[in-house]
Amino acid sequence: MEQDQQQYKTRVLISNEVIRKRIDELGQQIAKDYPSGTIHMVGILKGACIFLSDLVRAVPAPVKFDFMAVSSYGRGKTSSGEVKLAKDLDMSLEGMDVLIVEDIVDTGVTLTYLAHVLQQRRPRSIQIAALLDKPSRRMRPVQVKYVGFTIPDEFVVGYGLDYAEDYRNLPDICILDPVNPA
Ligand code: IMP
Repeated sequence: MEQDQQQYKTRVLISNEVIRKRIDELGQQIAKDYPSGTIHMVGILKGACIFLSDLVRAVPAPVKFDFMAVSSYGRGKTSSGEVKLAKDLDMSLEGMDVLIVEDIVDTGVTLTYLAHVLQQRRPRSIQIAALLDKPSRRMRPVQVKYVGFTIPDEFVVGYGLDYAEDYRNLPDICILDPVNPA
């Protein structure tokens, strides 16, 4: 693991200050869009846990949250194209206003799968919030109602996002560059 980190250097793409300002805006917008009732947020582990924990505190409205985990990427930088449910929710979503909270939409495979799975639980409504959107790599069309930032086709880490489980604790979103590119 430490060896992996020595092969890359990180370059800040979006600073923590900018992220926090944008999350405050999203929080206000979400509260306006759900004027009555509780918003049931579903955070996708592990990448979205930091975004979700800041987002819930930025929404001035009643919120409940739970987590799901899917496995897709393994240790690589490209998707295996396969998504598997690794941890299910503890709460029922029937009749609830559900907001899926994800770190990044890349190919769209993960969110297409999750939206399909959660739709089967008969929520009243279902929407998606993603901190980052990388539209250039989209393979499946996904309707993301709340997007923090649209980013170019770069592999990013930090603020919850990892490479082989490293870098999740960086406060900023950073581009991961090889130290000695081939
Ligand atoms: P998708 O299924 O291709 O949309 O990928 C979604 C998942 O891939 C995200 O939840 C992330 O876990 C991972 N992912 C996609 N792009 C990146 C990236 O640039 N850095 C870290 N993880 C990424």
